[in-house]
Amino acid sequence: MTTEIRTVVVLGAGTMGSQIAAVCALAGYGTSLVDISQDQLDRARTQLEQRLSRDVEKDRRTREDVDAAWDRLTLTTDRDAAAATADLVIEAAVEDLSVKRTIFSELDAVCPGHTLLVTNSSNIVSSRVADATSRPDRVCNLHFFNPALVMVCVEVVPHPGTAPETVDRIVSFVESLGKTPVRLKQEIPGFVANRLLGALRREALELYEAGIADFQDIDVAAKTALGHPMGPFELMDLVGIDVVHLIRLAEYEQTGDPASLPAASIKEKYEAGDFGRKTGRGWYEYP
Ligand code: CAA
Repeated sequence: MTTEIRTVVVLGAGTMGSQIAAVCALAGYGTSLVDISQDQLDRARTQLEQRLSRDVEKDRRTREDVDAAWDRLTLTTDRDAAAATADLVIEAAVEDLSVKRTIFSELDAVCPGHTLLVTNSSNIVSSRVADATSRPDRVCNLHFFNPALVMVCVEVVPHPGTAPETVDRIVSFVESLGKTPVRLKQEIPGFVANRLLGALRREALELYEAGIADFQDIDVAAKTALGHPMGPFELMDLVGIDVVHLIRLAEYEQTGDPASLPAASIKEKYEAGDFGRKTGRGWYEYP
């Protein structure tokens, strides 16, 4: 059955989930942002209010559009009530396979039959969660980039059992958000963009750890010689050194290759709790 997407549920009110929900609400979708923690939802509301008000001040959006988006956006801890009327659920919860499998199986039980279930994970490919549901044909990865309110690219990644119609509907959905879909033909952890970024990050860390150049100078080279908006170290601070650490461990779990393990300097920062912008210190300081 094909049903138009009207209502979207985003699970997980972290950095990615909250901005993804705002993007959907701004594009006109009735959107619920769900989290198990009310505190996390309160933080997400405050951050989104600041961010969207700033966009209004800077004439990037109108106050009317932002107010209309708030009218369409509900922040709630009641996942099952939200899921019961969802046409699309975007899971942006913790990067843990067993948690995601439980979420997908529970969503499958409460969502209508037509609901598409997608994961924002870039590392856990959707075939690893699709078989926890009775609708693997309506499951795929839908991967946004950080900061989701700003970044235009969204990767759409089917697993071998995803129906072509699901991919088409998700691609149209991405276009309706004003974003640009990048469609993968096959799933692979990291997809395209993060694999490209990973190659740059690995090389940058090797150069830094070998004492070839300071990390600040490596960032300057990436920006001024390659035209990247941020250098690899600035980007790690934006994405979160905890996230980079987790992604490396997840890759190691899948490949068993010691080269996949987090670099020594990442492990050190992770253990010190220096996660980047979110903790005020990573490679750089954020007063
Ligand atoms: N959330 C929302 N909007 C943000 C933002 C954030 N965290 N950070 C910046 N912006 C927006 C704001 O509109 C900001 O303007 P104001 O400060 O006036 O409000 C505007 O971007 C410009 O910000 P800055 O002047 O601070 O810096 P900038 O010009 O360098 O732009 C950037 C910031 C858009 C983040 C830009 O540096 C950029 O594109 N960086 C690369 C980001 C990137 O590569 N992302 C991919 C990460 S990998 C990933 O996401 C994969 C994954 O799986 C986690």
